Amino acid sequence: MILKTSSSLIETLRDRRQRLANLIDFPAILWSGTTSPRNFPANVFPFRANSHFLYFTGLPLRNAAIRLSAGKLELFMDDPQPDSALWHGEMPDREEIAQIIGADVAKPMAELELWTEEAATIAVQDAATWTQQSQLLNRWVLPLKSPQDIDLELAKAIISLRLIHDDGALAELRKAAAVTVEAHKAGMAATTHAQIEAQVRAAMEQVIIANNMTTSYNSIVTVHGEVLHNEQYHHSLQPGDLILADVGAETETGWAGDVTRTWPVGGKFSSTQRDIYDIVLAAHDACIAKVSPGVEYQDLHLLACTVIAEGLVNLGILQGNPQDLVEINAHALFFPHGIGHLLGLDVHDMEDLGDLAGYEEGRTRSNHFGLSYLRLNRPLRPGMLVTIEPGFYQVPAILNHANVRSQYQDVVNWEHLSQFADVRGIRIEDDVLVTQESRDVLTAALPTQASQIEDLVCR
Ligand code: GLY
Ligand code: MN
Ligand code: MN
Repeated sequence: MILKTSSSLIETLRDRRQRLANLIDFPAILWSGTTSPRNFPANVFPFRANSHFLYFTGLPLRNAAIRLSAGKLELFMDDPQPDSALWHGEMPDREEIAQIIGADVAKPMAELELWTEEAATIAVQDAATWTQQSQLLNRWVLPLKSPQDIDLELAKAIISLRLIHDDGALAELRKAAAVTVEAHKAGMAATTHAQIEAQVRAAMEQVIIANNMTTSYNSIVTVHGEVLHNEQYHHSLQPGDLILADVGAETETGWAGDVTRTWPVGGKFSSTQRDIYDIVLAAHDACIAKVSPGVEYQDLHLLACTVIAEGLVNLGILQGNPQDLVEINAHALFFPHGIGHLLGLDVHDMEDLGDLAGYEEGRTRSNHFGLSYLRLNRPLRPGMLVTIEPGFYQVPAILNHANVRSQYQDVVNWEHLSQFADVRGIRIEDDVLVTQESRDVLTAALPTQASQIEDLVCR
């Protein structure tokens, strides 16, 4: 943990809580959360502090809470137990932590119960903490329940701050992006010497760990890219395979990167792989070129759908007019997910609040197959960071479904499609900041062109 006083951190945190105070006129209490045990209490899963807490403290403290009221920051946490230094080393005490984060007051945890009146909160994921939240606030505070009343007001206020990244956040997000890019380059360079997926994953995560970061989600490194959130790494790598790697770094204070590249295990795309790769890249490039303030994110999604449908018509896989094909969801047979999501302290930023952050007030998710997985539906504003991640997948559960076969009998040239069997899954994902005039691709240092990718694999 970074434990030095920095005037810029203190300034950033002061500015965030002042802006919160301009939006709400009641106190907010935010908990950091605690560790979860594996099979016995002393052996715990890696700790990750709650993101709303991190936003206002900048430090991944455990078993702590803060009370934000009219721009003031009060820290509640206990000093380390006397025997803690033996097992965990010397830790700063409450007063030292308070100084680092610029807290106005620091008190033991037991005193928090005196300060809960009229306070709003946001549920933390771990059961020990949400039970404590519920007991102290004398109402159910549950992670899967939509917030109500002042909790809802607090959630909306925090969303409005976290949607638009300040300079402190952007400095961290750029660090996460830079390490994520290096991890992908290392993965490509390691592939021709690797026998199984796990070895490529290890090369990528090695870079992240060596930079004293963690992964911002469970890495996807697989020759079965059609399994969207594949968490298996045992498959052997064969020369004709594509490897899809969706891997992101997270900085020590919790800010995330999220990047996907797809490359040929043998160093050269086959002609069928290259044809499909170039369609996905065309969708990726067309969407990124349109990222600007005022643009509706859903329109970017629909643009990607149309570019993919057009490309598949040109290849002879789909038949018909691309717009009409998008209307009947034919593109979604191959591109079933959304074009991306918000990125920040969480890889799907603020998804602990359901769609409250992702969807503009008054909008709800469509139940249309091609739109139901769209995680973001807002007009873009300067300071938002979003991913752009189109893909093409051949998912047997979709393509072999009897209803799909009959519904799209005349739309898909099934026989021609069978020639593309060496393309299981391709995704290309970058992290794109909306700027005052246009955009800044934070992960642009990682090439996307097929020939550049081949060079990186064969380096
Ligand atoms: N890494 C998960 C995602 O791209 O949404
Ligand atoms: Mn993503
Ligand atoms: Mn991703």
